[in-house]
Amino acid sequence: MTSPEPAPDTPGCLDAGAHAALRAEFPLLSTCVYLNNNSTGAVPRGAEHVLTDYWETLRGWRDDVWQDWHVGLDRYADSIAALIGAPPGSVVTDANLSTLLARVASCFDYRAPRDRVVTTDLEYPTVPFIFTAFRRYGARLDVVSSGGPHFDEDALEARIDERTLLVCVPHASFSSGATIDLPRLVRRAHDVGALVVVDAFQTVGVVPLDVTALGVDVVLGGAHKWLCGVGTAFLYVRPDLAARLEPAATGWQAGDRALTFQPSAGWAPGARRFAGGTPYPLTSLVSQVGLDLLAGVGAAAIRRHSLACTSRVLQRAAAAGISVVSPVEPHRRGGVVCLDVADGEAVKRRLAARDMVCSWRGYLRIGPHVYNTLEEIDAFMDALEEELDR
Ligand SMILES: Cc1ncc(COP(=O)(O)O)c(C=O)c1O
Repeated sequence: MTSPEPAPDTPGCLDAGAHAALRAEFPLLSTCVYLNNNSTGAVPRGAEHVLTDYWETLRGWRDDVWQDWHVGLDRYADSIAALIGAPPGSVVTDANLSTLLARVASCFDYRAPRDRVVTTDLEYPTVPFIFTAFRRYGARLDVVSSGGPHFDEDALEARIDERTLLVCVPHASFSSGATIDLPRLVRRAHDVGALVVVDAFQTVGVVPLDVTALGVDVVLGGAHKWLCGVGTAFLYVRPDLAARLEPAATGWQAGDRALTFQPSAGWAPGARRFAGGTPYPLTSLVSQVGLDLLAGVGAAAIRRHSLACTSRVLQRAAAAGISVVSPVEPHRRGGVVCLDVADGEAVKRRLAARDMVCSWRGYLRIGPHVYNTLEEIDAFMDALEEELDR
């Protein structure tokens, strides 16, 4: 794709021709109004060739293919690294975020006085679940109440002190779409010697993130929402920190002699020390297609487009008197707008029956991506108003 520029009559949106070409890559978009990208993003049609090639490889199997597969796995990890401002070799992939987060958690001795994991009550449930399990190794989970659907950074900052080992927060809430003030929390955590672990599943691909500029320690995310991929997750660890961490939950691919099939005495270089067992290349190969399309558009243009779309949802909601849960200020908004509507789950189902696809997690979540149009937002909001008037 060429680099599309915003068209003058639609501030924040892509050039019409480039946008139409981008949409044509996603067959799902011709079947419905798809605003469910915060749950599962659309996968581009280029994935079909990857799947066919994969079958051809399996059909005529030779072990040598692993050489190409390792190149593909590394290429995908490095493409993620480029997207988040990380150096090559600082990202590793695995099946899901939970596996990688538990692996990171296994790097630490939870010894008093520095044994606390500060988190919020707006985490995706996997975060408290994992750190509750780590209580048996001494971890003390400190869940800071947000007092509502947006983060309370004052309360969080006040709880981060010399007893804090890790601050584990999302970049954006999965339930309200609110983003967190990461620079402020990184500053506070580092001032008291704590590390910051960020669950960026709800932002990477739609909200720009520069891990190097931010100085954040650990970032995790996954392919199947805003990255237009499927079945793979990623972990970034700040390179100088990675060199000091030793995961207890590990596997042979993390060893320095992994591909010689000899016992390893040390760790593989870079983020590979956070690998596990035999990797699963198919999902990285498939997910590369969507990632390349997004990289062709560029993070800044994606964000402009996303903000234009979510602003339209907000305008329409305000005009219709629908209660908005997400922040209205652009800098506090992720890629999703959450609306508080009566009988939301049933409304979501009725909309789906009309090929208007969004999700419901306590609130109606409307998550447009770079390939959606303002016309689709209007069609969706028209249908929503009709459903609410029934
Ligand atoms: C913020 C966030 N973290 C984590 C997950 C899930 O991670 P996993 O890959 O472990 O299923 C999700 C949603 O699926 C999410 O929205």
